[in-house]
Amino acid sequence: METKETPEARAVENGANPFDTLWNMATGYCVSRCLHTVADLGIADALDDSPRTADDLADSVGADADALSRILRLLASHGVFEVRGGMFGHSEASRMLREDHPRSMRDHARMWGMPVFWRSFDAMGHSARTGFPAMPEVFPEGLWARFAEHPEEARVFNGAMVAKARGAIMGVLASYDFSNFHTIGDIGGGSGHLLRAVLDAAPEARGVLFDLPHVIEEASVASERLSLRAGDFFRDELPECDAYLLMEIIHDWDDEKSVAILRAVRKAAPAGAKVLLVESIVPDDSGPDRSKTLDIVMLTLLGGKQRTQKEYEELLEKSGFAFRREIDTGAGVSILEAEAV
Ligand SMILES: C[S@@+](CC[C@H](N)C(=O)[O-])C[C@H]1O[C@@H](n2cnc3c(N)ncnc32)[C@H](O)[C@@H]1O
Repeated sequence: METKETPEARAVENGANPFDTLWNMATGYCVSRCLHTVADLGIADALDDSPRTADDLADSVGADADALSRILRLLASHGVFEVRGGMFGHSEASRMLREDHPRSMRDHARMWGMPVFWRSFDAMGHSARTGFPAMPEVFPEGLWARFAEHPEEARVFNGAMVAKARGAIMGVLASYDFSNFHTIGDIGGGSGHLLRAVLDAAPEARGVLFDLPHVIEEASVASERLSLRAGDFFRDELPECDAYLLMEIIHDWDDEKSVAILRAVRKAAPAGAKVLLVESIVPDDSGPDRSKTLDIVMLTLLGGKQRTQKEYEELLEKSGFAFRREIDTGAGVSILEAEAV
C-alpha cells in the first residue's frame, strides 16, 4: 500500500495514531471520573480476595448494578480491578484504593474528584485567558480557607498529601543526611509525615511542625521530640531551627508570595541554617513528566507553578539564601539545598 507523505500518515506508520492520541486525551476525564467515583463509593473496600458480581457489590455500596458494572469494565480495561467470568476482582492497582492498604491511594484518588479541584478545572479557560488561577472564579475563598471550613475535604486532602509523599520521603531519606541537625522545622508540613520520618532518621534532632491552625489541630503527631506550631507563614513568626524543610510548598505560590515565605524563613533562621526545598523540577526535555501536570494544577488552582532548578535558585537568592546544590532523590522529587547568609 502506498503511504501518503503527510505528518499524520508518518505518525500512523510510527505507531502513534494522531486520531487515537486526540481521542484518548479528549476523553481521558471519563476514566479519571470513574476512578473518583469508585474511590468515593468505597468499592475497593467492599471487595476482598474473592471476586464479586456487580449486583452484589452494588448492593453493598448503594449503587446501580448496571452502571457500576460498566464503570468497573472501563477501569478494568485500564488495569484498575479485573473482570473474571462476569465477576469483578482486585488488580494490584485497585487494591491500593482500599482504605486499609499500607500505601493507600484512596484519598489521593478522591482528592482529584473533590468539587474544589474538579470545578476549578471546569473553569480552567479563565487561567488560559488571564494567567490567573481559575479556582477563585468558583470558590472565591480559595483552597486553604475552604479546607478550614470543610473538615472532611481537609481530611481527604491531608490524606492525599500523605499518599503522594510516601515515595518522595523514602527518596529524601536515602539522599540526605539529617543527623547533624539539632532542630528541624517542617514549614507547611501538613500531617507531619515527612518530619516524623526525618526525626526517625536523626534520633538526636528535635522537630517543629508548622502549619495552619486547622491542620495542626488534626495532626496527632506531637511527641517529646516533635512539637506543633499553628500559624500563617505570611503573618506569624516561624520557629528558629538549623534546618527548614518545605516540601511542595513553594510550588503552590507565585514568585512574589514564594519570596515572602522564604524571607519569613530567613528572618527566623540563624546564619548558616539550611533550607531544603523538596520539589519536582521541570526537566529541560520535552517528554512527559509529572511535574508538567502538577504545573497546570498549580496554575489552575492556586496561581503557583512548578519551576526549573534555575527558577528555584533565583527565588532562594532573592530571599537571603545562598543556593548550594540540587540533589535528585530518584523518587520524582529533588532537594534544593540553600544556606542562610
Ligand atoms: C501542598 S500541601 C504540602 C504538605 C506537605 N508539605 C507535603 O508535601 O505533603 C501545602 C501545605 O501548606 C499549608 N499552608 C497553606 N497556606 C499556609 C499558610 N499561610 N501558612 C502555613 N501553612 C500553610 C497547607 O495547610 C498544606 O499543609
